[in-house]
Amino acid sequence: MQHFLEISQLSQQDIESLLKRAQFFKNYKNHTLHRHFSLCNLFYENSTRTRISFEMAAHQLGMPVINFDVQHSSESKGEVIEDTLHTLTAMGITHFALRHVQDGLPQHLATLIKNKAHIINAGDGQHAHPSQALLDLMTIIEQKPRLDTLKIAILGNIRHSRVANSLQCLFKAVGVKELVLIAPAIWQPEKVHYGTVTQDIKEGLSDADVIICLRIQRERLQECEKPDGRIDRDTFALTEKNYTLAKPDVMIMHPGPVNRGVEIDTALVDCSNSYILEQVKNGVYMRMAILEALMQ
Ligand code: CP
Repeated sequence: MQHFLEISQLSQQDIESLLKRAQFFKNYKNHTLHRHFSLCNLFYENSTRTRISFEMAAHQLGMPVINFDVQHSSESKGEVIEDTLHTLTAMGITHFALRHVQDGLPQHLATLIKNKAHIINAGDGQHAHPSQALLDLMTIIEQKPRLDTLKIAILGNIRHSRVANSLQCLFKAVGVKELVLIAPAIWQPEKVHYGTVTQDIKEGLSDADVIICLRIQRERLQECEKPDGRIDRDTFALTEKNYTLAKPDVMIMHPGPVNRGVEIDTALVDCSNSYILEQVKNGVYMRMAILEALMQ
């Protein structure tokens, strides 16, 4: 694999191999060190989980890590991102984890840089967040490996969620039995990759095996899409009341960051059915698998 850009580029074998390798990294702590590869985190949008887990993953693999500081870089003097990438590649950096507000930028930079370095999409605009989808799948399989029997519900602001896009593509590829996308009308997806869309939160959550809550992505909302008290929590949030509609052993998940008391009741974030911190933990192992898969 030269670049890691979106789920649709991955074959069934790629997905299985990444899951297997991530689980290996989780189970066995002694790894071959790859000091001749290096990672640069190019984050033009804020991040806690993704940036630091890529950094942790690279350290565990023995890769030197550079965290590019956009604000103090020469982009403040007019340099464009394409020249930043060429410059850092000329220094010998092999892997770039890129987060950017612009949809499709990782693909553009991958086309530009060809085989001189590896571009990893760490979240581009509203388009894709493939490493998040894979770590979510890893977390689900650890608890509920029979994907062909599962009902998974994604709940909340789906329209602006790159995570929801990547999850739909991945759940389709691995044969999840039923995927329900639950959102009020203004946050329903413009394009559906897999699953059925509903406004009926009760029907959507009913007998669910897994619920994935999504944050309101305020940074991407147009004026007419802002809740401003017009949208009732009953239409987009996981509450202690509606949560009981799901199966008793339902997995509660959230890609983070969580806004407690908004898209999910705080008690549910911390309850025994919550796998939110397990997702974070698995993020390191899945990103180790991704970095390793790109080593050539
Ligand atoms: N899930 C996720 O992408 O979180 P961060 O924005 O903290 O990286």
